[in-house]
Amino acid sequence: MHQLRRLLLQPSSPLRVLSAKKSLASLKRCSHFSSSSESQISNSHLIEHSEEKPNEPATGTTISVDRSGLYNPTEHSHEQNSESELVKHLKGIIKFRGGPISVAEYMEEVLTNPKAGFYINRDVFGAEGDFITSPEVSQMFGEMVGVWAMCLWEQMGQPNKVNLVELGPGRGTLIADLLRGASKFKNFTESLNIHLVECSPTLQKLQHHNLKCTEEDNNGENVEKRTISTLAGTPVSWHSALEQVPSGLPTIIIAHEFYDALPVHQFQRASRGWCEKLVDVAEDSSFRFVLSPQPTPASLFLMKRCKWAAAEEMTKLEHMEVCPKAMELTSTIAKRISSDGGGALIIDYGLNGVVSDSLQAIRKHKFVDILDNPGSADLSAYVDFASIRHSAEEASEDVSVHGPITQSQFLGFLGINFRVEALLQNCTEEQAESLRTGYWRLVGDGEAPFWDGPDEQAPIGMGTRYLAMTIVNKKQGVPAPFQ
Ligand SMILES: C[S@@+](CC[C@H](N)C(=O)[O-])C[C@H]1O[C@@H](n2cnc3c(N)ncnc32)[C@H](O)[C@@H]1O
Repeated sequence: MHQLRRLLLQPSSPLRVLSAKKSLASLKRCSHFSSSSESQISNSHLIEHSEEKPNEPATGTTISVDRSGLYNPTEHSHEQNSESELVKHLKGIIKFRGGPISVAEYMEEVLTNPKAGFYINRDVFGAEGDFITSPEVSQMFGEMVGVWAMCLWEQMGQPNKVNLVELGPGRGTLIADLLRGASKFKNFTESLNIHLVECSPTLQKLQHHNLKCTEEDNNGENVEKRTISTLAGTPVSWHSALEQVPSGLPTIIIAHEFYDALPVHQFQRASRGWCEKLVDVAEDSSFRFVLSPQPTPASLFLMKRCKWAAAEEMTKLEHMEVCPKAMELTSTIAKRISSDGGGALIIDYGLNGVVSDSLQAIRKHKFVDILDNPGSADLSAYVDFASIRHSAEEASEDVSVHGPITQSQFLGFLGINFRVEALLQNCTEEQAESLRTGYWRLVGDGEAPFWDGPDEQAPIGMGTRYLAMTIVNKKQGVPAPFQ
């Protein structure tokens, strides 16, 4: 651990500058607000038996932050746009099938359709994009995840070859900050083979750029060229699924805001029992929700999830979301860690229990209707951490699951307070503002302190609404900071 403390206390480590929009009075001031996770109110419009569509235009709320705030009023796009390729494609599927599709299929097409999915052709992050994530808020996030990875690597016995996998790396910011932060620990960085699981060609290019990748010069030798990140001299490769990452090496997996993009099935309790919510085309050619008249294939996953829930958890619920892809991914992670050793870190917004009705759409930092202009807004849902735990434990007896703990606890136990103090000793006033703002955004609870602007635009602290969970091979014992 002494090596890691050195990392945290390096005042001369490079600073990634973010512009701080508002001045901050003092790092010591802090306000406490309640978590928003208790709300489970429906945010969608639903038709049962093909009745009228109650799509009320609503005023959008500027949030300029992350995607964890739910149940905000939505805004409709009033653009007079002709039907996009994706809308035509979705309507084509519904017509071809002769009936509605699941919300999960709709979500998957909207996000990752290879031609027109939300993530496929653009950079969706930051002030100019649609939402912001923790790695984009502050370099300290990636650095702290780096501390977690190095602690795990030490617990694994400092193997000299390790697969470091990131699922859904966005701009590649987290891995870049992790590598920069860890660059003085050569034994660690030289052990790494980085594998990025990314479906978007545009984001793959951005990751290549941000990791300062070059193609290895093999002096004309007839061997396959490797891509190397010059940030730490580590080889990097890209894959479209975790299954494609070569096995056989101890593996560290990071999934930050990846699970929330996996497609969810939505169910609603009706007089005839649990019915799946489906997406259909109305007579006026707009999309609308309908309820399934009978059980659907996804009902099997609903039953599975219900078995894991306590009876009192279920009785109050009118809506329920299940994510079979999250269950399958967790099973793949658990099996890989069981066979190859290592561990996984999952950080996301969510609940440690059944999720009711959380699916939301965000376009340009505003909540919008889920069915409005699909492909132009991000779709994401709360992550069901209890389901991840059950899926991992079901997949392998050789893994243990720890957490979830809050992001604030995770970053705090790893020493973000020391890190921010160290960085503050050697920076400009602008950088100091950015560091303090970023620090409170990452660890703050509720609305971020020190906001001088209009209340409705106050950025929301991510400290308690984001949760961290780890799945590790039991051989390593309990990983930091989950002891
Ligand atoms: C919400 S973003 C999170 C990005 C990054 N982890 C961060 O925190 O800034 C989701 C990321 O996962 C990728 N992604 C979403 N679904 C995917 C899938 N099915 N397969 C591979 N990548 C996917 C997106 O392209 C994007 O890079």
